[in-house]
Amino acid sequence: MVGAGLAGMRAAIEAARSGLDVAIVSKIYPVRSHSVAAQGGINAAMKATDSWEAHMFDTVKGSDYLGDQDAIEVMCRQAPSDILELEKMGAVFSRDSEGNIAQRPFGGAGYPRTCYLADRTGHGMLHVMYEQLLKHGVFIYDEWHVLKLVVEDGSARGLIAIELDTGKLHRLHSKSVIIATGGYGRVYRTTTNALSSTGDGMGLALDAGLALMDMEFVQFHPTVLARTGILMTEGARGEGGFLLNSKGERFMEKYAPKVKELASRDVVSRAEQTEIEEGRGVDGCVLLDLRHLGAEKIKSKLSQIRALAIDFAGVDPVTSPVPVKPGHHYSMGGIATDKDGRTAIPGLFTAGESACVSVHGANRLGGNSLLETIVFGRRAGTSASEYCKTTEAKPFPESALKDACHSVATILKREEGESIFAIKKGMNDAMEDFCGIFRNKDRLAKGYEKIKELRERYKKAALVDRSDYFNNELLHYLELGQMLDISECILLGAMNREESRGSHFRTDFPKRDDEKWLKHTLAFKENGEFRLDYRDVSVTKFKPEERKY
Ligand code: FUM
Repeated sequence: MVGAGLAGMRAAIEAARSGLDVAIVSKIYPVRSHSVAAQGGINAAMKATDSWEAHMFDTVKGSDYLGDQDAIEVMCRQAPSDILELEKMGAVFSRDSEGNIAQRPFGGAGYPRTCYLADRTGHGMLHVMYEQLLKHGVFIYDEWHVLKLVVEDGSARGLIAIELDTGKLHRLHSKSVIIATGGYGRVYRTTTNALSSTGDGMGLALDAGLALMDMEFVQFHPTVLARTGILMTEGARGEGGFLLNSKGERFMEKYAPKVKELASRDVVSRAEQTEIEEGRGVDGCVLLDLRHLGAEKIKSKLSQIRALAIDFAGVDPVTSPVPVKPGHHYSMGGIATDKDGRTAIPGLFTAGESACVSVHGANRLGGNSLLETIVFGRRAGTSASEYCKTTEAKPFPESALKDACHSVATILKREEGESIFAIKKGMNDAMEDFCGIFRNKDRLAKGYEKIKELRERYKKAALVDRSDYFNNELLHYLELGQMLDISECILLGAMNREESRGSHFRTDFPKRDDEKWLKHTLAFKENGEFRLDYRDVSVTKFKPEERKY
């Protein structure tokens, strides 16, 4: 396993349960994985008055019909049992008045089906999963960073990783590898993602010859705390919070008359951005008003975001509205995979945000990300186990290790060159300014040229710290290389897709165009350059129709 967030841990537990010898390689300690930051909840049709079909319809509609319906069906059907399993593992969900797992309304959902643990759902789940990891004796190589996936004779054979506290490089042989390294949020300037979300697995997959799918679809969460990247959960709107502009208007009445603040994220983020750009914002933000919910509800159900608003914005939601704005939150795109986590390379699997199954299509519904991690993490763990049981172990030669040592030594020895931090800032600015919520041909072309220039500068960058022990600058250098590749894939996909769908909004092509663009984008890296291809979408139960909220 590469990555120790929810998808990685869930896959590792499943593989360990089947009797395999499983190890996790993670650049941070497992309980620091970004899954810990998930707040609002996890979706499942748990009640007789709800159904997996309704969950499936909401997800397909939310995806703006780009999600693969066969995969969405699997996820929605299996959601309730996976959640009950999580509860058996020890997850302490909030309860309703009858003692059942409590559920709250979330954006784009026609039923209150988001199970939650106050506003700390990811935290609760991650720690329970970690206990299971220890129980099953999964070995953890923590603070090891993967440099290369080794593919020999067309199949995965293991990886090369650097042990960060010594700087030593190691060969790890394995019959199969599962990538679950999460998203790449740090490509953007304002993101809810942790510093560790640098898209490492996606970059490794590109280098191994795999395709990244639908990378142009980038989710901007509507409620990110002013001047920070801190998430104010959608659960706040689910519990009844309003969004107000500078005139005190509940502006969502205009953009989504039926469900208002609980439209899908792409719709709410665009509405906020429009209000701000047309001069009805408040210091570059809009206001999240929770006051009418009352102190008791805020303190019991939204205690974490209250504390965050007080600490980081000096605002108590019990008495004042909270300034928020849209910010990067999630990647709908990722490593192309099937419903069982299989990639195009035998023995190489993927799950979670680093993967694109695709269950989110052009826009993910809140609460479906945690769900994806446990359903597809489990499934990837099962299929990797089956693969291992029918595969011979074939250790790979030492030459792969020597090549990696040589590359790292070359970076460390370079004496003259630009700082990586200026390049990283350039990337963040280019992505935020030219590939944000509203896109057009000129802006995207500017972003693309800028990233190409930064990729050239990156090749000549030099480090100040040349030491072996905990060389964080070296780690940042390696991460930046992956992020520049990912940025180029996002921009290329966005430039080519001449339509608006879900989170990808082109002001020069404002309509969805199913005739030309009901298809997935595939980005490949070949000899250091990127090329695109396309693939059909699986449409089973629900024919594409106009999305209205
Ligand atoms: O707003 C939130 O709590 C985020 C949930 C999600 O991204 O699924």
